[in-house]
Amino acid sequence: MAAFQGFPHVLETQQFTRKWLEEKLFPLAREKRLSVQARYEDIPTLLRGKGMATLFYEPSTRTRLSFETAMHRLGGWVVSTENASEFSSAVKGETLEDTIRVLNGYRPAVIVLRHPEEGAAKRAARISEAAIINAGDGTGQHPTQALLDIFTIQEEIGRIDNISVALVGDLVLGRTVHSLVYLLGKFINVRLFLVSPPNLRMRSDIKEYLAQHDISFTEHTDLRTVASQVDVIYQTRTQTERGSSLAKAQPEDIFCMVDAQILNLMHPHSIIMHPLPRNEEISPEVDKNPRAAYFRQAQNGLYVRMALLQMILG
Ligand code: NCD
Repeated sequence: MAAFQGFPHVLETQQFTRKWLEEKLFPLAREKRLSVQARYEDIPTLLRGKGMATLFYEPSTRTRLSFETAMHRLGGWVVSTENASEFSSAVKGETLEDTIRVLNGYRPAVIVLRHPEEGAAKRAARISEAAIINAGDGTGQHPTQALLDIFTIQEEIGRIDNISVALVGDLVLGRTVHSLVYLLGKFINVRLFLVSPPNLRMRSDIKEYLAQHDISFTEHTDLRTVASQVDVIYQTRTQTERGSSLAKAQPEDIFCMVDAQILNLMHPHSIIMHPLPRNEEISPEVDKNPRAAYFRQAQNGLYVRMALLQMILG
């Protein structure tokens, strides 16, 4: 299998370089956008004969379906277990390692894995011949989400250097912000505002990374105090299934949702992102505003995943 930047597997965002993002991923993702939008009817052949197994032990809509759509659109084959924690042999006590070994016997070129334990993708990669793509490992990382997020920032704002980003919500257990921070850290003069209720503050290992790499960040509890200073509000969902909770009545200095008053405070050029699914943290009244970029962001997931698969497997 062709090596991919020295890494056959996609496990964490630290493995990518700025040069690879700008010179390889972004141009190819733009090409994929054109080909999808042009509704070409040609039979795709780029990955003919290559296979993908999607193994999801946690719920997913976008990630799994966009990966599978991407593989079909490139001409490859797909086998899938969408609810592996209930419907796979995990129920019978099979270890992840055994499942990965067995799947490898069916000779997929890539296994897309979502698992509740941090580090699961690395464990799988140690024994897998097929490339492992980490589609979310517990509260760890979600690297392909971060790739589509950084592509969205580039396309919507027109640059990634010299931007200010508010990461908002569940910064302790939300894995998408963990992956995104490492990618943003590869650009120049990025200012981060970490906005969350005190019990959901950013993990300390990530704050240490930011401090060590001279990436400027400040912590806040009220989005209203920073909304006018940022190019991007990246909102996230409270990870209730992992034990995060929000107090019903928040004190006055805690405000972490996006609504009409936040829109009024934001610059006209700024955007609102969210990895989705969203709950009450973005009010539906925001959706019709052109600065609401989250559905365009989800659409970019298809283009970025097509580009990534072509680079890994092509
Ligand atoms: C995210 C995830 O699974 O981490 N969803 C996604 O893949 N777009 C975000 C979330 O579940 O809150």
